[in-house]
Amino acid sequence: MLQKTPSNRTINHRRIIHPLFVRITHWINAYAAIAMLMSGMRIYNASPLFEFKFPAELTLGGWLAGALSWHFAVMWLLVINGIAYLLYGIFSGHFIRKMLNIGAISAYRNIKLEMKYLLLHGTGEYNVIQRLLYVLVIWDVVLLFFSGLALWKPVQFQRIADFMGGYEQARYIHFYGMVILGLFILIHVSIAFAVKGTIKSMFTGRLTKSQIAKLERN
Ligand code: HEM
Repeated sequence: MLQKTPSNRTINHRRIIHPLFVRITHWINAYAAIAMLMSGMRIYNASPLFEFKFPAELTLGGWLAGALSWHFAVMWLLVINGIAYLLYGIFSGHFIRKMLNIGAISAYRNIKLEMKYLLLHGTGEYNVIQRLLYVLVIWDVVLLFFSGLALWKPVQFQRIADFMGGYEQARYIHFYGMVILGLFILIHVSIAFAVKGTIKSMFTGRLTKSQIAKLERN
């Protein structure tokens, strides 16, 4: 069903706002990234880089060997599924359409809409902040992958470690990458829960009733 809004936008109630491939890979990536983060914190606790340790309740694996088993098992899930998501994003045009439009003009338009309370969240169209965050986290996972390779097989991947300034430096890079991932998850999940309908539509792929009502008001 097609409908016009007061600001002359057309709403198609049946439109797929999140393609099935994106939804499936997103939820697998989310599971894998959270498991990597939690087991990574347990591995860090066994040999901390700084004066602090992470609370045991936030970690996964129970002990060092358990956490390492989790970390390496889930790593394959994240790598295979992550590559599938990246290839889909690049070759289907999904990234260009939904994420890479991060220019100053669209940022300015977003701020103007936000000030008039017209900026729409959770409708499948990402605003500039979301786009920046998604692009940032995708690069962050790539950085975590390469610094992780350097730590996992320091002899075979010595060139990567050298490029990062040595093994010790690669450890710090991997750690800071994990901090960025943790912060992203905190912000991303809080926004997803705060805006009604967002999570449901990431499962169904379609606009929810509350999202349609919000669009109709604008
Ligand atoms: C349980 C935790 C998570 C929840 C509830 C969640 C929820 C969501 C929702 C609802 C969207 C769609 C946003 C919108 O329509 O405005 C989304 C998109 C996205 N999320 Fe998550 N997410 C979670 C974890 C993660 C994690 C761990 C990552 C990164 C490793 C991640 C990366 C992304 C990316 C990149 C997108 C954009 C997808 C695309 O269109 O290609 N999410 N998430």
